[in-house]
Order: sequence, then structure tokens, then C-alpha cells
Amino acid sequence: MHFDTRAVHVGHEPDELTGAVTPPIYTSSTFAQAKIGKTKGYEYSRSGNPTRARLERAVADLEGGKFGLAFASGLAAETAVAGLLEKGDHVVICNDVYGGTFRLFNHVFKNFGVSFDRVDARDPKNLERSIKPNTKMVWMESPTNPLMLVLDIRRIAKVAKSHGLTLTVDNTFASPCLQNPLKLGATLVVHSTTKYIGGHSDLVGGAVVTSSREHFEKLKFLQNATGSVPGPFDCYLALRGLRTLHLRMQRHSTNAAAVAEVLSKDRARVRAVYYPFLGGSPSYKLARSQMSAGGGMIAFRMKGGYKNASKFLESLKIFTLGESLGGVESLAEHPWKMTHASVPPGERRRLGITDDLIRLSVGVEDTNDLVEDVQNALKASSPRSA
Ligand SMILES: Cc1ncc(COP(=O)(O)O)c(C=O)c1O
Repeated sequence: MHFDTRAVHVGHEPDELTGAVTPPIYTSSTFAQAKIGKTKGYEYSRSGNPTRARLERAVADLEGGKFGLAFASGLAAETAVAGLLEKGDHVVICNDVYGGTFRLFNHVFKNFGVSFDRVDARDPKNLERSIKPNTKMVWMESPTNPLMLVLDIRRIAKVAKSHGLTLTVDNTFASPCLQNPLKLGATLVVHSTTKYIGGHSDLVGGAVVTSSREHFEKLKFLQNATGSVPGPFDCYLALRGLRTLHLRMQRHSTNAAAVAEVLSKDRARVRAVYYPFLGGSPSYKLARSQMSAGGGMIAFRMKGGYKNASKFLESLKIFTLGESLGGVESLAEHPWKMTHASVPPGERRRLGITDDLIRLSVGVEDTNDLVEDVQNALKASSPRSA
């Protein structure tokens, strides 16, 4: 079956007991046992829950993986993955990852003796050079947050494989609809299901998908041992979100492409636009080789620095100023002051996260309305002659 059919049906099969086309949400924390140890597959909802199991099966299927695990948040999923590491292990983190991922390694796992280096993996030779005898994992995003860099997953996977390393790809920005890292050679895929998978800004959740039984079993153990599981209602919302993922991603991509075009034409006010499918961008060819569309995320730099960037953000009428992304509604934010404030200032500057940078999560509203909103805010941010 094709992706769209699987998105609608996998995990959403009618309830076996009643035939309900929308399966029930199992809120029970515990499950009756016919005899001691004789269960119907569930004992206690931290260890396993039927609604969560449906979500885990659906996400795994849509990512083209064998096993899926759902977590209480994207960061809980990342924590479980980082929990695979031991004291003395080293991780290579490709530049430009979500600020919270950096914080997790820098302020939590570093204290447990896990070290890391950041590397500009646009050239996989840099990655090769940063691998040490104790390196165990490579961590990457593509497109990256917030700069929308496109990294070559196939080439990075080759390097990781040749050194026996686990490659973890945070696929939150692309979603399983536009990119499947496991098919490109990744070992683990991580999602913040809070974003495109949920799709409506009404839940916080995370997921990990893999085809490696060994990794799955360790992660399943960690999921239960650390207890960072999502509640059944959030699992249901994520599962419902998945059913329209393909439709939303199509519209997010069309809208974002139109907005990126408008931004890139306004050379008087906009210094640079970062969108994977923007014709003429250096990563266009690579993006097309691993993604089926450009997605809904755009980053761009305003001329006139913070003054004009903040005026732009405050002049938007349809885009809401707010953190997060991937919902049906358009959002705009300032990575320097908002999502990436947890990255030390020097590091932010080094990465190119400066105070002229704006990140847009383009929603599924009418294309022309969004384009007009952006055009009006650009005009309000500075006169043409700026
Ligand atoms: C790319 C990416 N990964 C992970 C996360 C963390 O997810 P959550 O907020 O669900 O913990 C985020 C959050 O913004 C993100 O943008």
C-alpha cells in the first residue's frame, strides 16, 4: 500500500470487540489477569498500553521501520536514545540541532560522562575526522533547526556504518511523509510528534523508530525503566494526526514554497532565505534526492538586524508569534531569543543563529493570505529604500 493509504489505516483498524471504526482510547492504568501472569498482552500502562501500541505501530510503518516506541515528548524520546550510551562514550552531533538536544547532551548527559563534539557535517569528511576510538553515535537533523541546512543522510550513514556507529536522525522537520531516514541508512529515527505528526498544536509527544531489534529491545527497556511514556489520550491525538499527515504536508509544502519565493524576491529587505526546495539554493539537488517535497519550515535573515526582524515579527497578522512548529496554523519565531536561547551566545553566533534570523512554520491556511501577510509585514518592517 502507498503512504497515504497506510497513513489513514495503519493503527486505525476497527476495534475487534465492537467494530468501532474509530478505536477506543484505553485509559486503564492496569489490566486484569485471568491467572497470575496470564494476561491478554497488557499488564500495566507504563509497560504497554493498547492505544500507545497502535500509535507505535503506525509511526513505525510510516517511517518504513520494524519497531516504534512512543514517548512523553520529543526530548523524552531523545533521552531514551541517549540512554543507550554509557559513561566514557562519545557522540558526534552534526551542527545546527534543536537547542534542547544540545542542552540535553551539554547539561545532562555530559554529567554522566558522555562527551560530544559538534561538527559541520555538510562535508562528511569533517565527520570522519571527528570520530574517536570511543565514539558510539552520530546525531543529526535534516533539514536542521533552525537554519534548514540539508545534510546528506546517505553519505553520513555510510561513514557511521563504516565505523560501526549508531546513526540517529531527528526527522521532525521533514516528517515520515517527506523523508524516511531508515531507508537512507540511519539506525534510529527520532520524532517530536508534537510537531507535524500531531499536526494541531494540541499535544506533546515523541517517538523512536528502528529496524534493529537490538536497539529496539534496549529502548523498550529504557521506555519502561525511565517511565517517560505518553498518556493514552495524547497517543490517540497523534494517531489521529497521522491520518491526515500526507494532506497537510502537501499543503505546508505548497504554502512554504510560495512564501519562500516572495521572501527571496525582496532583496531590499531580506538578506538570505533558507528553504530546501528553493530553486537555486545550494542544497536543492541534495534535498530533492532525499525528500519528496520541501516541507513547511523556512528560515530567513532580515536586513537591518534585530530592529527589522522584531518589527517584521510583530507586524504579522495571520502568523502567530510563538515557539513550536508543524501545526495547521502558521507560526513565526525568533530563534536567537526564543527556541535557541539555551545554546550559549558564542555558539549561536558561530552556528549562524544571529539576531536577524527568523523562523517560519508555514501552516495550511490559504496560500494568498499567507503571502499577503508576509508581504505586509516586510513592508512594515522597513521602507523599500532601506
Ligand atoms: C527538531 C526538534 N527535535 C526535537 C524537539 C523536542 O521535542 P518536544 O518539544 O516534543 O520535546 C523539537 C522541539 O521543538 C524539535 O524542533
